[in-house]
Amino acid sequence: MDKDFNYSNLKLGIIGGGQLGKIMSQKAKKMGFHVTILDPTFNCPAAQVSDKHIMGGFHDSALLEQLVQETDVTTFELEHVDTTILKELFDNGHRIHPSPYIIELIQNKYKQKKLLADNGIAIPAYKDVKTDEDLKAFGFPVIQKAKFGGYDGKGVQMLKSEADLDKRITQESFIEELVDIDKELAVIVARNIEGETKCYPVVEMLFDERVNICDSVIAPARISKEIEKTSIELSVKSIKALKGVGIFAVELFLTKSGDILVNEIAPRPHNSGHYTIEACATSQFEQIIRAVTNLPLGSTKLLSPAVMINVLGEEGYAGEPFIEGIHDALEIPELSFHFYGKTYTKPFRKMGHMTVLADDIDTALEKAMKAKKILKIKGSKKI
Ligand SMILES: Nc1ncnc2c1ncn2[C@@H]1O[C@H](COP(=O)(O)OP(=O)(O)O)[C@@H](O)[C@H]1O
Ligand SMILES: [Mg+2]
Repeated sequence: MDKDFNYSNLKLGIIGGGQLGKIMSQKAKKMGFHVTILDPTFNCPAAQVSDKHIMGGFHDSALLEQLVQETDVTTFELEHVDTTILKELFDNGHRIHPSPYIIELIQNKYKQKKLLADNGIAIPAYKDVKTDEDLKAFGFPVIQKAKFGGYDGKGVQMLKSEADLDKRITQESFIEELVDIDKELAVIVARNIEGETKCYPVVEMLFDERVNICDSVIAPARISKEIEKTSIELSVKSIKALKGVGIFAVELFLTKSGDILVNEIAPRPHNSGHYTIEACATSQFEQIIRAVTNLPLGSTKLLSPAVMINVLGEEGYAGEPFIEGIHDALEIPELSFHFYGKTYTKPFRKMGHMTVLADDIDTALEKAMKAKKILKIKGSKKI
């Protein structure tokens, strides 16, 4: 998009209509852009706030082409999409950011590791596996990961000993050393078409042990200046190596011995960046739109310490969602509640999130934990 492009007519296409697409669309609408989304689900979260919904799957090449043809620039809220037609359209000059070649590389977790390693970025020791013999030769305990299709801990398996071999992933996979993790950190990096990068603060991700889903995020992370500096350097170096345009989340491990390793990269807005909506000068969702439409990147300044907690579907319930405790939870000052508008709940499904601001992390954490106890997503069916 040139400087003289008339942004009042800008048409944005988003592949994926979940919560990330929804919030992206809301930010695009704030700037007056026309938004079309592609998603298979009728009335999905993003469809509720977009101008047009192309209803179809992420592997439907005709509909992917329609989306790209009908819009000025196309971006993604998820990486599990068919890139064949997108690469063709990209090669023919259509604006698709990040490029489908980058999406394709990220889809293969093993190739992603290799790119990072080839660029001298510290990552856990890893190895391709084809047979059980390869697995045994690496030794136990070990982390096994599917090369394709994993998310929210699905596609990641810990094998403590040979006795766990029956739990192994049978699709194409690789293995990694089991890292002795002190904290899981994340950094959101924005990179625009000119190659300028801007970094958000380093945050801590806390996980729900039962399902390996990111449960809460603490911004800024409770780490030393030195660890913060290294985390940012590693994250920017990773995104520069990838040469992507858009928003990227770099997940990092801080080990018990004080090393920092890159775990993986998401080529889109990320759960670890939801706090930026209330706590930063420019949210990750506005930032991706600025990046892919060739507008200047906004300030990533942290305006207040924040804690974000995911609102997951309560265990034991499914069906039409019912928000329990909303009146009491919203009494908590500086709490912002987001409900994605999914019409069906099930255990641990990401249904919404809450961000709590406070002058210090301890107070924000205290308020967030109180809110978490009060607000529950139950469903019309007991299961
Ligand atoms: N090498 C490792 N050592 C220890 N824990 C790991 C390792 N790799 C992944 N994990 C744990 O599993 C989680 C999910 O793994 P990840 O590779 O990030 O996959 P996903 O795509 O599901 O997010 C991580 O956030 C971390 O808690
Ligand atoms: Mg991950």
